[in-house]
Amino acid sequence: MDKLERLKSAVPLLLEWYRVCKRDLPWRGTHDFYRIWVSEIMLQQTRVEAVKDYYLRFLQKFPTVEALADADEGEVLKAWEGLGYYSRARNLQKAAKLIKEHGVPTTYEGVRALPGVGDYTAGAISSIAYELPCPAVDGNVLRILTRLLADDTNIDLSGTKEQFAALLKQVYPKEAGEFCQALMELGAIVCLPGGPPQCLVCPWRELCLARLQGDAERYPVRAPKRARRVEEHTVLVLRYEGEYALVRREKKGLLAGLWQFPFAEGEPATYGRVLESKTATHIFTHVKWHMTGYLVEAKEKFPQFTWASREEIGEKYAFPSAFKAFRGWVK
Ligand code: ADE
Repeated sequence: MDKLERLKSAVPLLLEWYRVCKRDLPWRGTHDFYRIWVSEIMLQQTRVEAVKDYYLRFLQKFPTVEALADADEGEVLKAWEGLGYYSRARNLQKAAKLIKEHGVPTTYEGVRALPGVGDYTAGAISSIAYELPCPAVDGNVLRILTRLLADDTNIDLSGTKEQFAALLKQVYPKEAGEFCQALMELGAIVCLPGGPPQCLVCPWRELCLARLQGDAERYPVRAPKRARRVEEHTVLVLRYEGEYALVRREKKGLLAGLWQFPFAEGEPATYGRVLESKTATHIFTHVKWHMTGYLVEAKEKFPQFTWASREEIGEKYAFPSAFKAFRGWVK
């Protein structure tokens, strides 16, 4: 059996499995462009479990493209607080404004042209909202396909996703949305990364070459990971008469435009009396922060900072999770 034949046989098995075993997720069971689009943006680099609640709250707050387009940017970022990769929220709103003006895109190319939408997301939205035969290939889909086919292509090489997308395109069934989500679902609940795949309950157990070879975990073949750069930061939680010092991050780069407790240049004690300290770490894609935080009774209301109460920080300022360890000091 060649590759294409194996993949062809795999399609109906996967669809049947998906109908029975799929998880009930809040963005399933609709073809509404807006709801699918928001879900796919939130699901970029973010686990389903983390997304669920955000998704429902976001749709309550911004129930239509127009509502999102007309919202205040700060409000959108606030609704995104804790989800990470905040440029997604900015792009979502930028795209909402474009859609409000030019209409909802209904082709793969139109969807792909929206800010914040790459090949994968465009494929997913086109498949799920419009039943178009447009594959969505990410690391999870590469994992299940390289295992099914015992394909030892290094998946980190450029062009690999396109190659597998071209292969999938040849077998895309008319139930495009179900197929797209079934591929994702198999990677999410059966053919797991890190840890043994659940081959006994896999619809492809008789067909999967990696399993037949006795070593599903050999795939996918990957390039070795590059180490993250480590940054040391001194975090100041400066308190002055019930208000706390905040600074806004640069408009570009990591956590662009979000708010944080200031990073200290020198000794925390120069700002006032140090009451407590603790350390925390936070991991981003390319960098890791080692933070030492200090709770300080500030000796003056230093004018270089923005000062806000606990309530204001909770309601007005989008505050990244990286600082979560120190939020407990804000009373
Ligand atoms: N990951 C990306 N898109 C998804 C979807 N629609 N359902 C589940 N997981 C996903």
